[in-house]
Amino acid sequence: MRDLVRSGSFQLSGYWDTCTEGRIRRSLNRACAGSLHSSAVRATVKGTTMEAVTDIRDLEEHLSRPTPGVIDALASMPGDIIVLGAGGKMGPSLARMARRASDEAGTRRAVIAVSRFSDPRVLSSLDDAGVQAISCDLMDEDQVARLPDAPNVVYMAGTKFGTTGNESQTWAMNAFLPGACCRRFRNSRIVAFSSGNVYGLTDVASGGSRETDQPRPVGEYAWSVLARERVFQYFGSSLGIPVVLIRLNYSCELRYGVLVDIARQVHACRPVSLSMGWFNIIWQQDANAMALQSLSQAAVPARILNLTGPETLRVKDAAEKLGKLMCKSVSFEGTESASALLSNSSKAHTLFGAPTVDADQLLAWIADWVVNGGENLGKPTHFESRDGRF
Ligand SMILES: NC(=O)c1ccc[n+]([C@@H]2O[C@H](COP(=O)([O-])OP(=O)(O)OC[C@H]3O[C@@H](n4cnc5c(N)ncnc54)[C@H](OP(=O)(O)O)[C@@H]3O)[C@@H](O)[C@H]2O)c1
Repeated sequence: MRDLVRSGSFQLSGYWDTCTEGRIRRSLNRACAGSLHSSAVRATVKGTTMEAVTDIRDLEEHLSRPTPGVIDALASMPGDIIVLGAGGKMGPSLARMARRASDEAGTRRAVIAVSRFSDPRVLSSLDDAGVQAISCDLMDEDQVARLPDAPNVVYMAGTKFGTTGNESQTWAMNAFLPGACCRRFRNSRIVAFSSGNVYGLTDVASGGSRETDQPRPVGEYAWSVLARERVFQYFGSSLGIPVVLIRLNYSCELRYGVLVDIARQVHACRPVSLSMGWFNIIWQQDANAMALQSLSQAAVPARILNLTGPETLRVKDAAEKLGKLMCKSVSFEGTESASALLSNSSKAHTLFGAPTVDADQLLAWIADWVVNGGENLGKPTHFESRDGRF
């Protein structure tokens, strides 16, 4: 297995050159030595000079920057876009990307973001960006009935953390709500976020679960997400709604994500768990872009698309690389298994192209961000859980 992983497509370090590493390390060494305000990292990735991500404003700009593929896709897709459950980690940047792509394409449309907006600052920042933000509890059918119609729906509402001990809430959100939203938006096409968790653990050497594999969920959260899919499939077929189900794992930016979890453990000199020894990630901008492009893939019966990066990453390698970048020694606990929660996203990459930011770039950005005390959302992924309890 190790040989397979070290060869070709399994390598963590595809585009890392010594020049890049030297530049990043010099910046991080300055930070390690105490100049914590320096974050002027510039790295050459795939022959392109990538800008540093220096602050929240810069980060938000990156995460919502539309790719040419999104601009083209949204230009050819008429009508308003409504994003349901837009107030979480991904929704605000996805809604802003839809706004920016439509403006760049010269397409007149409303982009509408719907959530409870537990954090009211998210609502006002979306309004400022030209996104129409509507505060709504989607579990209240009267409020849902009053939402504006839109031919394009991105469904992001869901519950994961806190499932253990409040299972009924998770099932209501993940299995009941999709049916209510299908009935309300029966004349729309729908991109519905699902999760790679529906697959369960797979052999690391397999290259990840594929869309054609039988789901084998582990734990009530994963089962409830499979129920979400089944309900979308049922209403998609019975009401003739074009649907695409996005099995995502894991979106990552600088304030949350699997690499951020590992980087923070390394930086705090805490042992890194090897219990889930391997993982996939995708830079959130790329995940947003591919999700919006997926509107063009919605079909009856529903299609399924895995969404993640091309690399199968090893926790041990990622932690050691982060340790070098952050001048920290790394310790581990537990042992690796031959299986992990992994998806193969080659179908999405064939449709939309490979992600624009690779794992090495992300490692460098995250190391820099963590060393410089950048903001963290305080939402650990708990990706190391193997028993499906969240
Ligand atoms: N991020 C990942 O890596 C990842 C991986 C696999 C799957 N997914 C799935 O992809 C989707 C988007 O991911 P995410 O990370 O942005 O999820 P998230 O942070 O959990 O956001 C979902 C949002 O839905 C909103 N919501 C929940 N209940 C609602 C209700 N009753 N009415 C209105 N809004 C409600 C919440 O925002 P308010 O508090 O504002 O209401 C919540 O923040 C989710 O369905 C998630 O399960 C994400």
